[in-house]
Amino acid sequence: MMSEEIYESDFLVIGTGIAGLMFSLKVAQLGSVSVLTKRKMYECATSRAQGGIAAVVSDEDSIASHVEDTLRVGSGLCHSDVVEKIVRRGPEAISELASLEVDFCRDESCGEYELGLEGGHSHRRVLHVKDHTGADIMRALTDAVRKADNIIVFEDHMAVNLVQRSNSVIGAYVLDTKERIVKRFAARATVLATGGAGKVFLYTSNPEHATGDGIAMAYRAGATITNMEFIQFHPTLLYDPTGTSRSFLISEALRGEGAVLLGPDGERFMPSYHPDAELAPRDIVARAIDQEMKRTGADFVHLDISFKDADFIRNRFPMIYETCLKAGIDITVDPIPVVPAVHYMCGGVKADEAGRTDVDRLFVIGESAGTGFHGANRLASNSLLEGAAMAHYAAEAVQSYSGRPIQAEEIPPWDPGEATDPDEMIVVTHTWDEIRRLMMNYVGIVRSRKRLIRARNRIDLLSKEINQFYWDFKITPDLVELRNIATVAELIIRMARMRKESRGTHYNLDYPEESGAPVDTILRKGYLPISATE
Ligand code: SIN
Repeated sequence: MMSEEIYESDFLVIGTGIAGLMFSLKVAQLGSVSVLTKRKMYECATSRAQGGIAAVVSDEDSIASHVEDTLRVGSGLCHSDVVEKIVRRGPEAISELASLEVDFCRDESCGEYELGLEGGHSHRRVLHVKDHTGADIMRALTDAVRKADNIIVFEDHMAVNLVQRSNSVIGAYVLDTKERIVKRFAARATVLATGGAGKVFLYTSNPEHATGDGIAMAYRAGATITNMEFIQFHPTLLYDPTGTSRSFLISEALRGEGAVLLGPDGERFMPSYHPDAELAPRDIVARAIDQEMKRTGADFVHLDISFKDADFIRNRFPMIYETCLKAGIDITVDPIPVVPAVHYMCGGVKADEAGRTDVDRLFVIGESAGTGFHGANRLASNSLLEGAAMAHYAAEAVQSYSGRPIQAEEIPPWDPGEATDPDEMIVVTHTWDEIRRLMMNYVGIVRSRKRLIRARNRIDLLSKEINQFYWDFKITPDLVELRNIATVAELIIRMARMRKESRGTHYNLDYPEESGAPVDTILRKGYLPISATE
């Protein structure tokens, strides 16, 4: 079914994490804003962020040092101009969030912000609200958005495809997942803030609906996609003995406060992998854990903070303490069983720091953007910073869009063709499961030429089946997401095959070293990569 009405606004924002909502609040001064979210506003990766947001707010720290740490962890692939701009925006972003009543923790003795330390940082610079920073940021942003006059939020609305006229994006087809009807949205500028794609893999810290929708839609619209092979594994998710979820994060901030990783023999192993031990960059810690698990045959390793004062642990990490306690682990006494899992996508839709893509009137901000800020590996707690900074620069960039027309009348009605109701939804759930398993097994922490070829053969076959299914049957949220994860999986595999080296989060047994000058991988629809062996 299709709604006759066309929803018009100056700006169409898809996604409600820190990037989407901060952008919406800023541009509400310039014009009307429609904000779409597949579920409820607060159901996004931002809500789950524990560690905090990295920014330079102390006299002992400097912008130069934060830039240098970001570049070093990014393994030569960061775009230094973008890093400089985003890091510079940090202090202002903190003031903006504080003015929205995000109550970052302060040191009781001096009143200054209490700063956490995480892997790869040479200074304490992670602002946090205990261990539930993201949830508090989302509370503040959703409150402000609800009060804003010029913003309408459409919950349970899932963007299906962007609509283009003469290479410009003029809006989107959107599935109202409650009413099961497709609606048309038109705007002067469309902003994708759809977050990551952790659900392309079996084990992830991401929310259920992190299916890379923005990247898949932008790719279909002809945007250039970059560096998708750089999938960051977080080293420490709570081990779930059923092996089915693995989604609760044990923040890196624990290691910043001294927690150590122990193998099955109870011995620390990180000092033999890197001089910074547990505070080495994430790719190194995640690979070391993977190697220890493979070497010993263990299903998990332990993270131990129990030697710290119990009151300190309960006060600094209340959410982690409570969640582990519910799972039968008292972290003030016991070590925590942990495993690495997919956490963050360092690449995405090619964009500058203001989210401008190479498709007219299409912006991409936050995790779905590939700006070169993270390079080959993201520095801990730089993602909330990126979301807040890009929201600011994008809001400046769209000021010039006030003269562009809203071409609502040019969006044709949604054409469902001959589609009928899907007869066997089991095909969708089965295919989804197959993709997530093959990505975990063949395109995970350690890759090889053979594994990537196998993955490519399988994803090609599955994509054909999914496309057939997509055109034969009426769209459902599951089907839309399945098509998107297949597209994102294909992009990750193809780019992983293009990169004939190991760098940052991309490790290939057949090319174990970095090879010469760092180069971004690039793909767009119909574009044949120069490397014929892809
Ligand atoms: C964490 O708290 O360990 C996650 C922070 C991040 O991903 O930057």
